[in-house]
Amino acid sequence: MCGIVGFIGQQDAKEILLKGLEKLEYRGYDSAGIAVQAEQGVVVFKEKGRIAILRESVDASVHATVGIGHTRWATHGVPSKVNAHPHQSTSKRFTLVHNGVIENYELLKNDYLQGVTFVSETDTEIIVQLIEKHVNEGMDVEEAFRQTLTLLHGSYAIALLDNQNQDIIYVAKNKSPLLVGVGDDFNVVASDAMAMLQVTNQYIELMDKEMVLVTRDSITIKNLAGETIERAPYTAELDASDIEKGTYPHFMLKEIDEQPLVIRNIIQKYRNEAGEIELDADIRNAVLDSDRIYIIACGTSYHAGLVGKQLIEGYAKVPVEVHVASEFSYNMPLLTEKPFFIYISQSGETADSRAVLVQTNEMGHKALTITNVPGSTLSREADYTLPLYAGPEIAVASTKAYTAQIAVLAILAADIAKAKGRTLDFDLTQELGLIANAMEVLCGQKEEMEAIAREFLPTTRNCFFIGRGVDFFVGLEGALKLKEISYIQAEGFAGGELKHGTIALIENGTPVIALATQEHVNLGIRGNVKEVVARGANPCIISMKGLEMNGDRFVLPAVHETLSPLVSVIPLQLISYYAALHRECDVDKPRNLAKSVTVE
Ligand code: F6R
Repeated sequence: MCGIVGFIGQQDAKEILLKGLEKLEYRGYDSAGIAVQAEQGVVVFKEKGRIAILRESVDASVHATVGIGHTRWATHGVPSKVNAHPHQSTSKRFTLVHNGVIENYELLKNDYLQGVTFVSETDTEIIVQLIEKHVNEGMDVEEAFRQTLTLLHGSYAIALLDNQNQDIIYVAKNKSPLLVGVGDDFNVVASDAMAMLQVTNQYIELMDKEMVLVTRDSITIKNLAGETIERAPYTAELDASDIEKGTYPHFMLKEIDEQPLVIRNIIQKYRNEAGEIELDADIRNAVLDSDRIYIIACGTSYHAGLVGKQLIEGYAKVPVEVHVASEFSYNMPLLTEKPFFIYISQSGETADSRAVLVQTNEMGHKALTITNVPGSTLSREADYTLPLYAGPEIAVASTKAYTAQIAVLAILAADIAKAKGRTLDFDLTQELGLIANAMEVLCGQKEEMEAIAREFLPTTRNCFFIGRGVDFFVGLEGALKLKEISYIQAEGFAGGELKHGTIALIENGTPVIALATQEHVNLGIRGNVKEVVARGANPCIISMKGLEMNGDRFVLPAVHETLSPLVSVIPLQLISYYAALHRECDVDKPRNLAKSVTVE
């Protein structure tokens, strides 16, 4: 969480920093700030709230060609102007922005900074104060920066300005993502290439425990031992139009609509020359060599993993366990002899998942990351990567990444099944094509989804999603979507489980959204609907063509049952979107959340 930017060049730094922060707002939007090297020295502008508020507060008459910026997702200290970055040292010589968490900040404060007056409640302020202390003790700035970094435990992406040297930005990274962008007569720093695509598409990746001296015409990477490291830039394959809303009112709606295209893209990318879906042989062999797959993920990606388990076990007959990353890291189950780990992460930067990957790498287990961002930390640190090819997902609520993850997991399952000599009862390429068409039909039925949201969710306090089999997993995702963007208390349940406690919450008019896409449990889920209706619930049954019954509210186009989550989730995404819209919620930037969760 949190996003940082930096610019050093010839143009107006303020505007480039603000535009960069606007692109990083998905990483947190509790407060924002910039600091620029002006004639009179470093000038800081910061505000609680969104970048738009910061923009209003920036004095246009301040001229500067060097600066740093930050958008915050609060960890240590409430969202406030005082806790907003940039933070300054007591003398105001040093100004710093930071993304990450310094775990030993209290210890450092006690051991090194007795007597220093702190103005914020953040862990970040100790970094800038430590740098100043080291300089006051006689070190040059580079050495003071390095010495400070060696004391920090935790994660950081840092950019630092020195009031006494207008021609340099000091940068460092450990665990939090950070790139340095290369330009003609200018250089930039950013948590994500998207932020600075406005000025360059050439980026240099930084590794953990590296620091960088960035000037207008040079980028010097060093490790913490002071040795210089050479690294060539790469071209960020991002299209600037991918990160714009275009004519859409919200990124979320645009991304929902992109799902048919993403599925078609995935078919293309994972096809071999004979037109058959095929995986890299190394990945296949690593899976075949294992005796169990462990899927590790968080949130929506975890929900995709649950569907993935059904697909892999169903098609390929390999046992699969799915675990929430934040639990797995300290509550590891007994592993089998030859485990294979699959990390699912849209961003590839989720700290909880990364913490597990670090552990399983240390244990010597092979790992695959399924991600939308090849080159991300989870992708770099795993043995193998399967990209999602979904294009940037900007809305905080994940939509197209979820369906892309399921499609890629289906491809993995089918490939392993084939390698084991098992034949599927359908052609996956063809089925995914049909699914893309069905998705298109559903995306064309927005008025119907809006009507459902209006009918079932206008004033409700809570909402339940029920289903059996994969419908239960899709219900979990539907509930997460609804609660995160509309703030309606929503929960997903296995249809048969309600009567074991939760049914007590059903009152007159409680909306219960039931999915019925699985033939073998169609009667079972219908029975569960009857149970809640008998207690006053307002049921909204979403079934699949061929399984529909009288009174169903919406019927999905028929697709192969095992892949039904790819289509059944779309009405749930759209219903959540419209419910949030009707409640005047900020759909793309729901409260308290950030897109990329880079703290554990
Ligand atoms: C919900 C959502 C989150 C993410 C979770 C994991 O809409 O987006 O639950 O799925 O934070 O993020 P990634 O997939 O980037 O690891």
